[in-house]
Order: sequence, then C-alpha cells, then structure tokens
Amino acid sequence: MAPASPAAQQGSAASGDAAAPAGPHAFATRLVAWQALQGRHDLPWQGADPYRVWLSEIMLQQTQVSVVIDYFGRFVARFPTIEALAAAPLDDVLAAWSGLGYYQRARNLHRCAGVVVAQHGGEFPRSAAALAALPGIGESTAAAIAAFCFGERAAILDGNVRRVLCRAFGVDLPAGTAAANRRLWELARSLLPDAGLIAPYTQGLMDLGATLCKPRRPECGRCPFEADCSAHGAGAESDLPARRPRNAQRPQRETVVLWMRRAADDRLWLEKRPPAGIWPGLWSLPEFASEDAALEFAGRFGPIVQRQRLAPIRHGFTHFELTLRPLLVDVDATAHAADAGSGWTRLADAPALALPAPVRALLAAGDPAPPAAVR
Ligand code: ADE
Repeated sequence: MAPASPAAQQGSAASGDAAAPAGPHAFATRLVAWQALQGRHDLPWQGADPYRVWLSEIMLQQTQVSVVIDYFGRFVARFPTIEALAAAPLDDVLAAWSGLGYYQRARNLHRCAGVVVAQHGGEFPRSAAALAALPGIGESTAAAIAAFCFGERAAILDGNVRRVLCRAFGVDLPAGTAAANRRLWELARSLLPDAGLIAPYTQGLMDLGATLCKPRRPECGRCPFEADCSAHGAGAESDLPARRPRNAQRPQRETVVLWMRRAADDRLWLEKRPPAGIWPGLWSLPEFASEDAALEFAGRFGPIVQRQRLAPIRHGFTHFELTLRPLLVDVDATAHAADAGSGWTRLADAPALALPAPVRALLAAGDPAPPAAVR
C-alpha cells in the first residue's frame, strides 16, 4: 500500500500547504519505523543524561556530528560533570572548545553550568519551558533535551528539521521570515507523536535531515517519504527551503587582517580581541580598515621585508557577512614588547588558542611562503 502523502497526514487549518489529515500520527509512525532501522544509534551522547545531551546539542549547533564526536569525548573527559564544568575557569572551557568556533556558545555553556549548579542544585530542570530560560538554550534545543531526557512532547526546529518539513510538506515561504517560522513551528507541533515515541521521533527528524534530506543531492531513493514528499513529487528538492529574497541578504563588511611574521623565526603576532564586538576575548590577527593602516602598524616593529596579499575569506555572522582580506607581512623585528593582550606566537602553537574560525582556517592552511631570510 502506498503511504499517504505527508502533506495529507497532518491537520492544519490555516495554510495552503496542508491538506486534510488521514491520521494524526502517520508521519511520526513512519519516521520512527525508519529511525529504528536506518537511524543513528551509537552516538556517544545518546541516552537520557541531561548533561551529555545538553552538551552535545550545544556543540551540534552549526557543527557536524563527525566533527563533534571527538570534541565531545575530550570535553566530557576534561569536565565529567556539570559541577566540574561550572567550577572550571572560563579560559579552560574556551581552550577545550577551541576549534569548534562560535565561542559565544562556550561562554553561555559555562554560564549555564553555573546557573544549573547554583540555582537548581546541579540538576537540569525537566521541562522545555524551564530549560529555555537557561543561558544559551533556545526553544529547539530545550525541546530536544526535554524530549530525549524527560519524554516531553516538545517540538524541535533546527535547520535540518526546517529543510525536512519544507520539502515534505511543500512549505515555500522564504527561509527566516516570520511567516515561515510561524508556519514551521505550527507544523512541527502538529506532527508530534505520543510521549512514548518522542525520543526516537526527535532523533529520526535529526537523522533524516542530516543523512538523507541533505541541502544538496538529497538521497530521496532511500527516504521513507519518497513516494509522497511534496518537493520530490514536483522535482523541486533544490528549491526548498525557499531562499530569502535578495534584498533580505545580509549586509557586507570587509576588513584587512595582518598576518605579521618575524623574519628571525616563525613567530606571528596575535592579539587578544576586546571583550565587546565580534569574537570577544579571542586571540586573532590584528584587524585594520585598510592595507595602508596595516603596513603602518607593521612598520613600527621594524623594516618590512616582504608582503603578500592572500586569498580573501568570507565568514557569515547572523546579521552581516564579513570578508577578511589577509595581508602577509614579514618584518625584521628582533624584539618587541609583548604584553598580556598580544605577543609573538609560534604558528604550531596557535591552534591551541581560542581563535575565530576563519582565522583558524587561514593559519591551518599553513605558511603560504617561508619567511624571507634577512639579517
Ligand atoms: N543534531 C542536533 N542534535 C543532534 C543529535 N542529538 N544527534 C544527531 N544529530 C544532531
């Protein structure tokens, strides 16, 4: 028997993309059956331990499972309990986080651990509503923790789930708009199964979005909803979720970053960023409005031996997009006073510092050319 269309299975009155329900839980039932056979069952955070689930959910925001697995293992070995995390200095937490990027998540993680220990006796609250009141826990993350750990019928809606729902149910409202958010939350809530199935259902949504219903080249032939997915039926998988209108694109900014090397050895100059603004408190390359300003700064350390423009790097923030224009400069500086907020660092030591993700990527690409030998 061909499965009923997902779009025909959930009951929503107010929108054009949903038809009459054939059964309130048919979407969930099929997803749970698929998850049991094809989903992921051996991820190190799976289970009902709120500390591990919370940690993994924060790490998995904007970072893939394959990357998170190693970090997660090291992090829980270093901070095995929420008490250990709350008691640790923030700098230790940032260092253990270093490489995952989005350091605000690590700061909030540390704050959240402090609040759970100080105000909740070290136990996470058990409802999605109370979890969402904690630092760094948004509505979808709160729902995931409540569903996995406490069996609450709470709806998740992260980027992967948005894509699954937009495609399966033909929601073509532009991504990120208030109308799309409203519609998708309403849809996500309308699809929830009984509490007894909420954990595998939630995992199934995550697994489907991550492993089959991918942004590019979705594997529709293996999807449990292939026969009745709205986007697949219309050959419109790559059109959904609908992109934002052009004029809603993020504003663009540019900055010159100075990769200054000392000709005498392989050290580069790093500075700790101010506590406010982008990348607060992280170590980074100094930033300038122009190449002239960068060269003027470098010239204060000693004669400039050589300079080279490197390929620009684009980095997206929530409200704007930044293009970094790296300028590699070798200076003949033998000594220059470093202080707590700046100094010469060996390239090999840089990865252990809390660096902004694009700067980490730039430095990880290695020395573009050996420093010129100048005496
Ligand atoms: N993405 C977000 N949360 C996840 C989880 N718990 N398991 C796998 N992928 C995820």
